[in-house]
Amino acid sequence: MSTHLYTDLRSKNAIVTGGTRGIGFAIAEAMLQMGARVAVSGRKSDGVKLAIERLRHVGGDRVVGVAAHSARPEDVTRLFDEAVKAFGAIHVVVNNAATNPSMAPLHEVELEVFDKILETNLRGYLLVAREGVRRMREASVAGSIVNVSTVASLRPWPGLGAYSVSKAAVNSMTQVLAIELGRDGIRVNAIAPGVVRTRFSEALWKNPKTEEDTAKRLPLSRIAEPEDVVGAALFLASEASRYVTGQVLVVDGGMMLV
Ligand SMILES: NC(=O)c1ccc[n+]([C@@H]2O[C@H](COP(=O)([O-])OP(=O)(O)OC[C@H]3O[C@@H](n4cnc5c(N)ncnc54)[C@H](OP(=O)(O)O)[C@@H]3O)[C@@H](O)[C@H]2O)c1
Repeated sequence: MSTHLYTDLRSKNAIVTGGTRGIGFAIAEAMLQMGARVAVSGRKSDGVKLAIERLRHVGGDRVVGVAAHSARPEDVTRLFDEAVKAFGAIHVVVNNAATNPSMAPLHEVELEVFDKILETNLRGYLLVAREGVRRMREASVAGSIVNVSTVASLRPWPGLGAYSVSKAAVNSMTQVLAIELGRDGIRVNAIAPGVVRTRFSEALWKNPKTEEDTAKRLPLSRIAEPEDVVGAALFLASEASRYVTGQVLVVDGGMMLV
């Protein structure tokens, strides 16, 4: 295998949940650039439609979009059905759709909010991973599952307690699945981004002063753009990482060092 083909995804069919904007969109776009066929999802059909219009400029008919809630089994089945119908067997699943509706100390967080966070970020990731495994096994595919986690899963982040708990569980799920599925040739890894400029993290960058304060604490002196996360996703999706499983790859501009 020559090095320039390491992240070649021309033989891969991928699903990216939450691929209609932010980090998921950037990953979907990069995968299309590397030749993959990609299905993206989001809850809102308007968002899906808009994302597909933009992604078609890069991927033409190699992209489809499905309005699907990651924590609803029937939606997840439909997402995979549509992706398989469009492309055939699924080789790569990027579990990226997550939520954090409020910031509160963990001991005070409303139970409904806690349940909602775990529903999408943990139950949703499990449902999507399980469906991916089922389809990969059916098609005898040696696939890759990539779970988008966060640095907050590795280091306590005041105010992000419920979210951190959900993503720490995702890291654990990544390791358990990696052990269980290694013999099937299915690799399972996670990516832990730092602060990335998306709608999700607006509170940390919308105010220029807040962004500056965050950026100056980071060794790389800036917050990430969604495109800064795609290299890790391409690596973990492709043959470049064929001997890597059960890892949490930190992509944080050095945040965890300081
Ligand atoms: N931004 C950061 O600083 C940061 C840092 C570390 C980790 N992360 C992680 O990166 C991932 C992506 O976040 P982002 O910053 O790109 O967020 P974002 O810009 O808000 O995008 C979230 C995407 O997920 C979809 N989504 C949300 N809930 C969903 C659900 N239940 N079912 C299906 N789709 C759903 C959204 O579409 P709809 O609204 O239409 O559903 C959208 O496409 C998340 O896992 C997040 O935890 C983000």
